[in-house]
Amino acid sequence: MNILAIETSCDETALSIIQTNETNTENPNFSILSDLVISQIEVHAEYGGVFPALAKREHAKNLVPLFEQSLKNAGLYTKKQTESTEHPVVKEILDREPELYNDLMILISQITQPNIDMIMVTHGPGLAPALWVGVNFARALSELWNIPIVPVNHMEGHVTSILLKEKYLNEQNALLDIKTFHFPMLSLLISGGHTQLVLVKNWGDYEIIGETIDDAVGEAFDKVARMLGMEYPGGPKISLAAEKGQENQVINLPRPMISSGDYRFSLSGLKTAARYLIDDLKKEDSLDEQTIADTAYEFQNAVTEVLIKKTSKAIEEYGAKGLIIAGGVSANTFITKSFREKMNEYNAALYLPEKKLCGDNALMIATAGYINYWHNNKKATISQNELVAVSNLKL
Ligand code: KG4
Ligand code: ZN
Repeated sequence: MNILAIETSCDETALSIIQTNETNTENPNFSILSDLVISQIEVHAEYGGVFPALAKREHAKNLVPLFEQSLKNAGLYTKKQTESTEHPVVKEILDREPELYNDLMILISQITQPNIDMIMVTHGPGLAPALWVGVNFARALSELWNIPIVPVNHMEGHVTSILLKEKYLNEQNALLDIKTFHFPMLSLLISGGHTQLVLVKNWGDYEIIGETIDDAVGEAFDKVARMLGMEYPGGPKISLAAEKGQENQVINLPRPMISSGDYRFSLSGLKTAARYLIDDLKKEDSLDEQTIADTAYEFQNAVTEVLIKKTSKAIEEYGAKGLIIAGGVSANTFITKSFREKMNEYNAALYLPEKKLCGDNALMIATAGYINYWHNNKKATISQNELVAVSNLKL
């Protein structure tokens, strides 16, 4: 059985194809035939953030070439005598992505129907215009070749991304043995759009116990980076600058809501405090390289302390046996190293995604869809006309 996974919720266009030979719910696993991501970072950099209309346009432009390459990687690409194709229903589905329709029809006119048995696609949460491109692409393929669809929650993708093994690309069994995990676990999801503490009662069974009331962690990193003159996405640039920074007397930032006693986060106050601090430093003409590094260090440290305090409290309260940190910001090694040190105090294992899978990708969408479909035995597929994008979809 071959499964195509599609991810377009933000600024990465990603497709992967996985293959599973068994429908063994006890020991689910798959191998990876193709895994491709096109990042739009450069397109968005000059806007200082992801620009939804641009993201939509880029996804529409990228999807067919990426799909063609995915089929080639997976050995599912077979040329045929070209015959011109029109498809009124598919044209209707892709009414708002006419260029995607044209590209797709050209490809369809040149290849035989590939052996794809199921489509798993991110239908939320994310930027609505971006999500809809992937959703409509899935609907078009489903309509063309009569393939059932499994809608996937992007955040569940991040949670289950930790199941993918290090050398997964060469593995027959790309997934860790899910029987080795003990519940309940906690998941700290930190990305450009989300900051959530999630109680993981089992795979597929989640409860959000707290989230940010304003900015997401990645968003705060990106905004403070911009104040320090760094390009979007600023998260990685802050962490790089912070490596040369240190604590000092002058540069102090607050740890918002650190003692609030609940699991809510707030980052906009920290961002504002950083703005005042940076403005003052600029006025004094003292924003030199070392001061930038020290500010980056202090900001990263403030965020980390708040994340650790709240997560530790939740681990105790819920008796969590494991902690999953995922989402784009989980690529931050200062944060993950600090957590690793702290976790030694608890009897809880720490699970992180492979570096390559911290950002958005379609492999995690395949994993979440697969785990739900087989392990949880939900076996729920829908047809193309039932599929919609839900930008504020909850776990
Ligand atoms: O999960 P993701 O790829 O996309 C969303 O779904 O949001 O997360 C992207 C976010 C961006 O805000 C980016 O700056 C941040 O993750 N990020 C980092 C690091 N690498 C990526 N933030 C801090 N430190 C990093 N090393
Ligand atoms: Zn994400």
